[in-house]
Amino acid sequence: MKKNCLLFFFTFTVSIAVFSQTVISIIPQPVKIEMKSGEFRFGPETKIMYMDESLMQLAQYARQQWKFWSGWDGEIQQIKHEKLEGNFVLQIIQPAEKELSTEGYGIEITSQNVFLRSNTQAGLIYAIQTLNQLMSANPSQVLPACIIIDYPRFRYRGLHLDVARHFMPADFIYRLLDEMVFHKMNVFHWHLVDDQGWRLEIEKYPKLTSIGAWRPDMEDLDWNARPLQCQPTQEMYGGFYTQDEVRKIVKYAADRNITIIPEIEMPAHVMSALAAYPQFSCSGKNLGVPSGSVWPITHIYCAGNDSAFIFLRDVLTEVMEMFPSIYIHIGGDEADKSEWNKCPKCQQRMQTENLKNVDELQSYFVQCIEKFLNANGRIMIGWDEILEGGLAPNVVVMSWRGEEGGIAAARLKHNAIMTPASHCYFDYYQGDPAVEPLSIGGYIPLKRVYSYEPVPQELSLEESHYILGAQANTWTEYIRTPQHAEYMIFPRLAALAEVVWSPNNLRNWEDFSRRLENQFKCYDKLGIYYARSAFQARIISQPDSVRRCVEISIETEAPYGEIHYTTNGKDPTDSSPVYTGPFALCESATVKAGVFHGGKCMGAIIAKKFSLHKAFGAKMTFQIPSASRYNGNLGDGVWGSTNYRDGNWKGFLGDDAIIIIDLGKPTKIRSIKVDALQASGSWIFFPEKAICELSKDGKEWKSVGEKMNEHSWQEPVPAIQLFGFENLRENVRFVRLKMKNRGTCPLGHAGEGQPAWIFISEVEIL
Ligand code: ACM
Ligand code: ZN
Repeated sequence: MKKNCLLFFFTFTVSIAVFSQTVISIIPQPVKIEMKSGEFRFGPETKIMYMDESLMQLAQYARQQWKFWSGWDGEIQQIKHEKLEGNFVLQIIQPAEKELSTEGYGIEITSQNVFLRSNTQAGLIYAIQTLNQLMSANPSQVLPACIIIDYPRFRYRGLHLDVARHFMPADFIYRLLDEMVFHKMNVFHWHLVDDQGWRLEIEKYPKLTSIGAWRPDMEDLDWNARPLQCQPTQEMYGGFYTQDEVRKIVKYAADRNITIIPEIEMPAHVMSALAAYPQFSCSGKNLGVPSGSVWPITHIYCAGNDSAFIFLRDVLTEVMEMFPSIYIHIGGDEADKSEWNKCPKCQQRMQTENLKNVDELQSYFVQCIEKFLNANGRIMIGWDEILEGGLAPNVVVMSWRGEEGGIAAARLKHNAIMTPASHCYFDYYQGDPAVEPLSIGGYIPLKRVYSYEPVPQELSLEESHYILGAQANTWTEYIRTPQHAEYMIFPRLAALAEVVWSPNNLRNWEDFSRRLENQFKCYDKLGIYYARSAFQARIISQPDSVRRCVEISIETEAPYGEIHYTTNGKDPTDSSPVYTGPFALCESATVKAGVFHGGKCMGAIIAKKFSLHKAFGAKMTFQIPSASRYNGNLGDGVWGSTNYRDGNWKGFLGDDAIIIIDLGKPTKIRSIKVDALQASGSWIFFPEKAICELSKDGKEWKSVGEKMNEHSWQEPVPAIQLFGFENLRENVRFVRLKMKNRGTCPLGHAGEGQPAWIFISEVEIL
């Protein structure tokens, strides 16, 4: 029997006794690193040796990788004899230690040789990545002597990409797979189907791609502002992958130890499929392929229609032919089942199957599909909604609405994958929205990803074994290009890679931060378009109405470097004052701050404007209360940013905002300004108008006019509008502002007819 031991190494003749400063900077952090004295230098005689014919391709991969990282390009040779003579040193460690298991590896670097060993090709692939990183951190062609033992904490280390909302070309998928293996991630969850596009060729149902892959091009509008009723337009947006392309991508991934799990959504998120084959919906209506947001998602597959199940089995049969993955993801999220409640076929099904409600009908639907997948030797994965109405027998739960789904699944002895939107949604902002590309919302900075613990505390040791691992999700409603996708994924994937690979007790933010510097060097060399958002400053203020000052503190999660700031409106440089602690700002100013390292500003400069005006600290009352979630202070001297969650905004839902400001005593005033935010994607709209009135006693009011909204709700990016009342020359104590809410989200908006928000962050009186 062939030994279950693989050996693979390169070797060189003479070591040179000059030791460079060694830098070990590997992400994810290996299990054990033991430094030795000396170093290995690549030379003209260095060879890559491999033991077994089956390793030749891997040896070639290693050569290509190391040529890229070190510039060295040597020979590859198969070891002909177990006993090597001359300068070769051979050390067989056999069978490769049990602790290395199926993905682990060992590396030994001496001044003569580099040995790599593993039980599997997968382990060797990871050993090659570790050497890549060692090469990147050290003078080219020199490796520090050391012993590394390494293996992953979790067997499921995933990255998801939604190619339905925005299509990502095959070239980018290849690139992403290379970037994944560099981070030792081993599952690519390919979200191929959604309302806004069907992206996978299915031979038996060609209309899925000839119709379902294309939608009217409304890329100039905000995702949530795209009308549902499509206008006839010549321009179409879309794309899909042919089966041939997919097979090549799947093979390319497998060569990098990456399993591709296809996600074929059902029963909801399938308007693209139903545009092609409307007969599989309850109503039979063709609503087209929507170009933007649809909410709630009611147009779904009919659970009472046998032909819909035949269609899905046919589709899945072709899917299984393309994707050898043991896991097939069937979505299952966010189905609004109101159509099922009305549909005679669905009602009939509930009766014959003795199902009490539509949740149980969804469970029936999922179980039918699961039976089919299981009969074909596959295991089904679904989003955590599949817990509702009863879990299918063998299903794996992907927990995204927090950790509860994963916890419930593990307690039911089902495997679970953790992808909570609190830590793993890479479509969320990672820095200050004022300087970040427009995103769907949320805020998950690098440090938060790094802090994620995939095994919930609530689980017992035995239950915790059902947690297969974790995954980052990259939804692309607001991500139109591969470059933007990379920006959202990196470096957050580095943080997640360490979460899922490295032992928990080695998790150390400061050390990770140090290693990030080299990771960025690697990204630069690889041409990865990554975010430096972790190097932003956060300017925090605390009003002190007694002293009429604001106390400013500046924070950063930046791993290294120092904060420099200004208060004169100019951009800081590395010779501006260094921030050492909180300070008081007692007159209006703009504070700007940046994180500098080695003379360079590492991220964007953040600016915050403070206005110490006459309503600063004044008593304000609200005729209609604001929402407790969005309860910013309107008299703290701070204007809000375009991020509606920055803490500065006060939100009013469905109603006008009526604000009475009491200046405490008769006060001479010249101008009144109030701001408002529009982020129509988040159902926040500019007020229709602002009305301003003044009073000496709070009883008799005098109007000073009204200012109208001048913007369309369809403008694609969040914006701030100032409503100003100037040249007043008044002596008053009370100011009343009425901001007129439009009431409901407009026709054609995703939230059409639902209550609209207005957001206000400051009332400035001068
Ligand atoms: C999801 O984010 N709807 C799974
Ligand atoms: Zn139906």
